Amino acid sequence: MIYRLIRPALFALDPETAHGLAIAALNAGLYPRAPAPDPRLRRRVFGLDFPNPIGLAAGFDKNAEVVDAALAMGFGFVEVGTVTPLPQAGNPRPRMFRLTADRAIVNRLGFNNAGHEAVYARLAARERKGIVGVNLGVNKDSADRVADYVAGVRRFADVADYLTINISSPNTPGLRDLQEKEALPALLAAVAEARATAPKAPPVLVKIAPDLDKDALAAIVDTVAAAGIDGMIVSNTTIARDGLTDRTHAGEAGGLSGRPLFRRSTDMLDTVRSIAGDRLVLIGVGGVDSAEAAQAKFDAGADLVQLYTGMVYEGPGLPSRIAADLALSPRIPARS
Ligand SMILES: Cc1cc2nc3c(=O)[nH]c(=O)nc-3n(C[C@H](O)[C@H](O)[C@H](O)COP(=O)(O)O)c2cc1C
Repeated sequence: MIYRLIRPALFALDPETAHGLAIAALNAGLYPRAPAPDPRLRRRVFGLDFPNPIGLAAGFDKNAEVVDAALAMGFGFVEVGTVTPLPQAGNPRPRMFRLTADRAIVNRLGFNNAGHEAVYARLAARERKGIVGVNLGVNKDSADRVADYVAGVRRFADVADYLTINISSPNTPGLRDLQEKEALPALLAAVAEARATAPKAPPVLVKIAPDLDKDALAAIVDTVAAAGIDGMIVSNTTIARDGLTDRTHAGEAGGLSGRPLFRRSTDMLDTVRSIAGDRLVLIGVGGVDSAEAAQAKFDAGADLVQLYTGMVYEGPGLPSRIAADLALSPRIPARS
């Protein structure tokens, strides 16, 4: 595994610099090609044919720069973004931290991205191959957050295979308030209306935080289902800091991802599935870094899974390794 040799050099760099190098390497074609997908891993979810159920989570390819590379590396689908209407720089650096002993990351990037127009132009220019979702957010100083999501739905409806309404980043102050029962129905009604009047109507998912209590969760699931939204992504990063051994960066503000998020996000997925029944498609994300972890998400009710932090620690071969291990496993994802 070449990544074992490269990783120490990458980890000697600031994590954001290392991420920039990874994007440059993918752009330059320097990545392992996955073998042809095993037909046993195919899944049909919300009307789309996924070659395998392992996706690249939002935040890795915020600006749709490496979609085709990520698909060629073996991801069954790629979610780009979070994209905001206008380009924005995000929070001051440093704003991304590795907690290596915990195989985790804390980030407070704050939706740094190139904005709707630049990302749309990239997606529109590529040949439509593979499944690409677009994760939508709001500008930090937006005067009308609902309007930002509506603009995202309108802008990307014709190039996205699905859209994600991200109301769960901990790094845009007040964003998570949109999950509350006073705000969510109006937001989702506006999103549903924007989709209904767009030339193409892709499936829409809502991405939630893992820091919600059970009552709040039940209200969200029912609101999402009642609004005619197709599903949920469970979950974004956590503001909790339970069970960490790394003391250097554990105190940094931001969202925690990776292994320490696995239990919390998987338990939450299980709860969401039990409340939602078959009303919603669910994507399980948080701490997936092996086929066993992916299988645990399927067992908890996921139709698909995504990962990001696992790849930082395991390297670019991770998606195809997970796919190969799942294909060999007698317990292929139960729901279809
Ligand atoms: C550096 C970094 C940036 C992220 N940026 C975004 C983002 O822009 N939008 C989003 O919805 N999630 C974002 N996420 C969250 C991931 O999509 C995912 O929900 C979370 O990291 C849990 O999965 P993981 O443990 O496999 O990383 C980001 C995560 C990391 C580590």
